[in-house]
Amino acid sequence: MADYQITLLKGDGIGPEIVSQAVKVLNKAAEKFNFTVSYEEALLGGCAIDATGVPLPEETIAKCKASDSVLLGAVGGPKWDNQPGNNRPEAGLLGIRGALGLFANLRPSVIFGPLKSASPIKDAIIGDDMDIMIVRELTGGIYFGERGRKENAAWDTEKYSVAEVERIARVAFDLAMKRGKKLTSVDKANVLESSRLWRETVIRVSKEYPEVELNHMYVDNCAMQLVRNPKQFDVIVTSNIFGDILSDEASMIAGSIGMLASASLSGGKLGLYEPIHGSAPDIAGKGIANPLATILSVAMMLRYSLAQPVAADAIEAAVAKVLETYRTPDIYEEGLKKVSCEEMGDLVCASL
Ligand code: NAD
Ligand code: IPM
Ligand code: MN
Repeated sequence: MADYQITLLKGDGIGPEIVSQAVKVLNKAAEKFNFTVSYEEALLGGCAIDATGVPLPEETIAKCKASDSVLLGAVGGPKWDNQPGNNRPEAGLLGIRGALGLFANLRPSVIFGPLKSASPIKDAIIGDDMDIMIVRELTGGIYFGERGRKENAAWDTEKYSVAEVERIARVAFDLAMKRGKKLTSVDKANVLESSRLWRETVIRVSKEYPEVELNHMYVDNCAMQLVRNPKQFDVIVTSNIFGDILSDEASMIAGSIGMLASASLSGGKLGLYEPIHGSAPDIAGKGIANPLATILSVAMMLRYSLAQPVAADAIEAAVAKVLETYRTPDIYEEGLKKVSCEEMGDLVCASL
């Protein structure tokens, strides 16, 4: 029987609440599909600063490297907002992405049928099968470029090498080949030199994928097109910062940021899985967070790292079924049953 070792980084704010529900669902999936999972907890973010003085202790990196996969809640919160930049909770998150070489971040924006009416975008615009895969470069660009501050000025640097663009482009083309064979590369090549290199490189890589229809879009237009006509997109590939912003936007097409999962991959088996949202300090401790993004991140883990695609499909189907009747407050609609974070976790387990 397959046995998986998972590192849990519960993090801050709603992190522990949502990770608990996702673990419950993973345990249920293990029982049903005949594999076993053992867990090791490690500290990342504000909780790590409180316990050790730093957001990413060495021990956390070692535990993550020794495991089959990592499940993360979220990090950060007002308590740590006055830490120096390199010692903030968010610096710990960037640090673990860098340390594990997680350069490819997959952020699917899929509409679950019952949620169509919960989206602020009109039904006719969403259609029945909106399914966008945002491929965000995760270990380069302005997040990792040189930064500094001197007197009354500060700077951050957007920098990409050809090799960095090539490898993320290949991930995106490979995914497009398994999907609708359409790839939109999003940049700001009308202004940024780094974007011009990005575009040239993506065009060069596209020669290896003659079956994939490639187009290019400026990021400002893409932000608009996502709400004007989201159905035009299949796979989107973009830089670290543009992917961050566009994926939050795409989450609202799907109804709520509490619905969007993500996988951060390195090319090897080990991946880090996390919802795209943050620690939601405004609702932390109230028991009302939507755990579905984290539960759907477990489905991605089963699919991309643990080679359990049947279990992954089953979790997604269980979520779809539960959404017909039950909603956390962020996706609540009149006539349905409003449930807590924990109840939502229990319902997905029962449905599974
Ligand atoms: P956020 O995503 O935490 O919250 C934005 C809004 O969405 C809030 O109103 C929140 O209540 C709501 N929301 C988010 N997740 C939800 C869920 N699962 N269910 C219901 N509602 C949900 O973004 P923010 O407020 O800009 O950031 C808060 C903190 O989180 C900051 O410290 C930020 O740096 C951090 N952050 C961390 C991550 C991460 O760890 N991956 C991601 C984004 C933000
Ligand atoms: C995300 C978050 C992070 C990012 C922050 C917290 C560093 O917004 O995972 O989307 O910008 O990558
Ligand atoms: Mn973000």
